[in-house]
This record gives sequence, C-alpha cells and structure tokens, in this order.
Amino acid sequence: MAHRYPLIVANWKMYPSLADAMVLSESYQEGLEDLRHIEVAIAAPFVWLYPIKEVLIRKKLAHLSLAAQNLASEEEGAFTGEVSAPMLKTLCQYVLIGHSERRQLGDDPEVVNKKIHLALKWGLAPIIFVSQENRRIDIKNTLDLLSRLLNGVAKKDYEEINLVYEPVWAISTNSQSGGASGVEIEPVIEAMRTKVGDQPRILYGGSVNEKNTAEFLSLSELDGLVVGSASQKQKLFIEICQLASGRNEAQDIIRY
Ligand code: PGA
Repeated sequence: MAHRYPLIVANWKMYPSLADAMVLSESYQEGLEDLRHIEVAIAAPFVWLYPIKEVLIRKKLAHLSLAAQNLASEEEGAFTGEVSAPMLKTLCQYVLIGHSERRQLGDDPEVVNKKIHLALKWGLAPIIFVSQENRRIDIKNTLDLLSRLLNGVAKKDYEEINLVYEPVWAISTNSQSGGASGVEIEPVIEAMRTKVGDQPRILYGGSVNEKNTAEFLSLSELDGLVVGSASQKQKLFIEICQLASGRNEAQDIIRY
C-alpha cells in the first residue's frame, strides 16, 4: 500500500538550453502552485542547477525541489569533470543514480552502490534506477539487481530511498512499442515492494505521458513516476502532476 505523496521526477536529461530551463522551471512553479499531496523534483543538468535554484527560491513551493542527474563515486580528489555529493548537497535534495543511460557509460552495480552510500552519507535522497533490459519480465533478475544496488544500505535509510523500476526498452528513445503498460509492470512492482517493505518509494519510468499516468498510478504499490520526454513540454508535465495529485486527494494518505 502506497503511503506517501507521489513523487514525480522531471528527467530533463541533456536537453534544455539555459533559456528553456528557465522557462520550464517558471512554468512548473506556476502550474504546480495550487497542487497538494504531491512532490515534484526537477532533475536538471549540473550546470543549470544553480540558476534554477535561484528561480525556485523567488517563489518557494515546498513540494517542488531539485535533483542532480548523477554524482561522483568518490567524495573528493583528482577527478577532473566529476561533481561530488558534498558539492551537490548545497544545491539539491535528490540525486538520480544508475539511470540506464549512465549504466551504458560505465556505472556498473558496484559503482551505483558506492554512489548510493555517498548520497546517503551527505543527506541527498537517492533516486535509484533498477533497470531491466529485456521485454520479458524477469522478476528474479530485477530482485537480484536490486540486492546488489542496495548492498550494505541500512534499513533505517530506506525511508530516504526512492527506487525506480525502469524497463530500458520502454524508454521513449528506445521504444517502438509505445512503452510498457500498468498490467505488465505490476508484478515487478509488487515483488519489489515485498522485498524492500513499506519504506522506500517505488516509482516507474519509461514513456510516461498524460495518457498513461492514471493507469500507472492506479497500481497500489507505486509511489510516483519518472518523466523524460513529456517533462520538456510544460503543459503535459503539469497535466501529469495534476493527475498524480488528484489520485491522492481520493486516498487516505499518511504523510511521514
Ligand atoms: P522517457 O524517459 O519518459 O522519455 O521514456 C524516461 C527516463 O529515461 O528517465
């Protein structure tokens, strides 16, 4: 049973220009202002985090925050081009870890695990991608990966953790098929919930749009969504957030 307000993550990837990022953040602010029972995080490229933070501070909404799209696997040192957890801590609340697009760039499960530990140490809430390559649902494989990613993470930290089930084939840039359906992912979400218990939020990511949001959010164990391409279109993204916020008005929510 999902207990928390849903978390909707806008994964901007490496798309918006600075001008577009400013326009998008301002229109998110406007569109989300009256929504309740929802949390929204903008996962922006590193270089836009500071300017967006300035925008968000001007009209602070408690339910709109920032996420980085990655972090270094070391805390400090001679790592040209990397950005560490303590640096990000000054700018954002969340950090995406182990997205399949990062996995392709060399983040294997052990590196992802290191990054999760660093994020938790520095008070960044990790949004951890548990990806599945093949279209055939393989619950055992997904749960094995989940165990490797969470190796050594204390149960007391599960409250801070957000897990994302991410069928790689369903991401809009890979998908000819229009993505996964709620029925297709439900058994995996339920198996993940059984494994990790009530605390971590469990999200879904892959071709989420305004048409399939309600279907995904009708899954009782799902606590949110990661939205890639639809998050670039302010109207669509706000519509998705409205649907997510509406779902919870109808439910008895326990806010942690
Ligand atoms: P998509 O991206 O919504 O464009 O499929 C999701 C993601 O990769 O995070």
